[in-house]
Amino acid sequence: MKNRSLVSIDDYTKEEYLEILRVAAEFEKNPVQNILEGRVVATLFFEPSTRTRLSFESAVNYLGGRIIGFTDASSSSVKKGESLKDTILTVCNYSDLIVMRHPLEGSAKYASEVASVPIINAGDGANQHPTQCLLDLFSIQKTQGTLENLTISMVGDLKYGRTVHSLLMAMSHFNPTFKFISPVELKMPDEYKMFLDSKGIKYEEYLDLAENIKDSDIIYMTRVQRERFADPLEYEKVKNVYVLKNDMLEGTKDNLRILHPLPRVNEIDTDVDGNEKAYYFQQAQNGVYARMAIMTKMLGLK
Ligand code: CP
Repeated sequence: MKNRSLVSIDDYTKEEYLEILRVAAEFEKNPVQNILEGRVVATLFFEPSTRTRLSFESAVNYLGGRIIGFTDASSSSVKKGESLKDTILTVCNYSDLIVMRHPLEGSAKYASEVASVPIINAGDGANQHPTQCLLDLFSIQKTQGTLENLTISMVGDLKYGRTVHSLLMAMSHFNPTFKFISPVELKMPDEYKMFLDSKGIKYEEYLDLAENIKDSDIIYMTRVQRERFADPLEYEKVKNVYVLKNDMLEGTKDNLRILHPLPRVNEIDTDVDGNEKAYYFQQAQNGVYARMAIMTKMLGLK
């Protein structure tokens, strides 16, 4: 992992995922260390973020490193017309590692090809969000005690949801059964279903939420992403199609945990928050430990 960019979740092997999770568990037990002292991490966010940016920054701060960057491209020279390539080449002079979120699919790969320091993809359009995926794996392993042979219901925007795309690819190493629950307009793209077919992994597609979560170990809820729709009317048609409510959780498995990459809009009723099966805020906390592990591995410090 040392000095390698993380652009897509399949840049890492199964063994490398497990190593990240092992190191994340170490950091969870002992999160305040000076292991990043003297290192500078740049966070370049061309799209809004709360959890990804702040958990990276929190991780760097707890580990004694320094952060530079921008939270809005309009406050950078991109506003004056500077290209992504020139921005990356410049920021490489100021940092040891670049964390970048960008609305264009493929932007992180492009950045990794021109950069002299490792790039971490913090989300590129509807494509990939690999560090979210690693914190999701960490959350699943912590709550289930294993990653193997789990039934995972993915719910909501499976078309544009980069987190479900990354998670599907990573979990394919662990013999899962997937239930894809989405409106027809937001179905899991064929390329991901073909990927599962090629690996012999079981999946079914459903429209109804309440009926299809009873045998699940994990429900992975997602937000319908208004920013990915070209036509606002198409968004209005599907935005509230699934709302998970507390009473729907009756009869579900004891070990069930509900994950959501967040932010949520309406798709999980707040009456679920007090249920012991709701895990999404702990999941967000796990992001700090997973990102500590990713950065220190990439910098060859672990
Ligand atoms: N999960 C996630 O990517 O959240 P943010 O958009 O707040 O970073």
